[in-house]
Amino acid sequence: MRRLLVTGGAGFIGSNFIRYWVNHHPDDRVVNFDALTYAGNLENLCDIESVAGYRFVHGDIADRSDVERLLEEEGIDTVVNFAAESHVDRSILGSDAFIKTNVLGTFDLLEAAKYVWKDFSPAQRFLHVSTDEVYGSLAPDEPAFTETRGYAPNSPYSASKAASDHLVRAYHQTYGMSVLTTNCSNNYGPYQFPEKLIPLVLLNALEGKPIPVYGDGMNVRDWLYVEDHCRGIDDVINDGKPGQVYNIGGENEWHNIDIVNLICDRLDQLQPGAASYRDQITFVKDRPGHDRRYAIDSGKMRDELGWTPAHDFTSGIERTIQWYLDNRDWCERVRSGEYRQYYREQYGQSSA
Ligand code: NAD
Ligand code: DAU
Repeated sequence: MRRLLVTGGAGFIGSNFIRYWVNHHPDDRVVNFDALTYAGNLENLCDIESVAGYRFVHGDIADRSDVERLLEEEGIDTVVNFAAESHVDRSILGSDAFIKTNVLGTFDLLEAAKYVWKDFSPAQRFLHVSTDEVYGSLAPDEPAFTETRGYAPNSPYSASKAASDHLVRAYHQTYGMSVLTTNCSNNYGPYQFPEKLIPLVLLNALEGKPIPVYGDGMNVRDWLYVEDHCRGIDDVINDGKPGQVYNIGGENEWHNIDIVNLICDRLDQLQPGAASYRDQITFVKDRPGHDRRYAIDSGKMRDELGWTPAHDFTSGIERTIQWYLDNRDWCERVRSGEYRQYYREQYGQSSA
């Protein structure tokens, strides 16, 4: 039986992970520790809030004494760190919160675990959830990122995640903490905040707004259904080797414009309007420092841990589109005043 502290458990991947974990490991203790920023929403977990063994605690990973108290009180043996500022565009508009949470917050979390765990036992594990963006950008014909690829982050977001990855690695090398790092590609699925490409396209299409595509739309991302990411993290927690890095990806590369067209075409079938949703596609100014292509080589996950994605893109995107159609009220509620202000700043007054 494990006793988990899941940081950032009220966000997109964290809430999917907690739901996955309580369903697959019903005897475990799961403490969700989340600051409830604009991206954190307890409604994401309303179906499991009364599950025995689950507890939510409101707090900031950068508040070291709060984290230490919780680690002691709950006898935590496994930390899973999802807590982060996660949106590249926001990091370009202003990166303070990214440095505070992603870099300093991860440092405080490591320090708290070091202080409370003292003499590390092999059962105590600190899993840090990171991103493929730390590796930078791939040329069209380059092989996918392996775990030995050098770091070359290009946005304040990816630089902050890279910094946190280095700290996590150092706590293994220096102090012998059983750390594990996962670097994952783009996730999609239910509960993703509508600032990210797939839900933004879906909602703008349905609301008759312009669908903003950056640059020429030919940037490539490697998409993974969120539940497959959660299962990969489970495998790494249980069977990963301390100090190791594991790349998790969908081996499912798409040009942005092809995903946007696919979503528009599916909506044309499910909710036909007077004109095709493709007519709303608007090419806009490119994201500064926009990485051209990401692709993850998941060979180590497959060979060492037997992990492969269970969901193909056709079924995953279908489930995702259907979830957003069925949960329009959720979308409305999470798009608070703060989000509307961000949207105007990012896309301009006229498109808000
Ligand atoms: P998200 O923005 O949806 O959720 C982040 C969560 O962290 C929110 O619940 C927020 O309230 C919480 N949080 C933020 N600052 C905090 C703090 N100081 N203390 C405690 N909680 C705090 O993010 P996501 O998309 O679910 O990503 C989760 C993690 O996975 C991040 O670390 C991200 O870098 C990583 N990741 C994301 C993707 C992706 O495609 N979304 C892919 C690879 C890796
Ligand atoms: O690769 C993993 C990363 O994936 C995670 O580490 C990040 O937390 C997550 O946000 C995501 O980053 P991206 O920048 O790849 O995701 P986003 O959904 O913001 O954008 C996906 C692609 O779509 C990217 O090439 C930019 C483009 N895009 C995005 C938006 C929001 C547009 O063309 N128009 C848009 O309006």
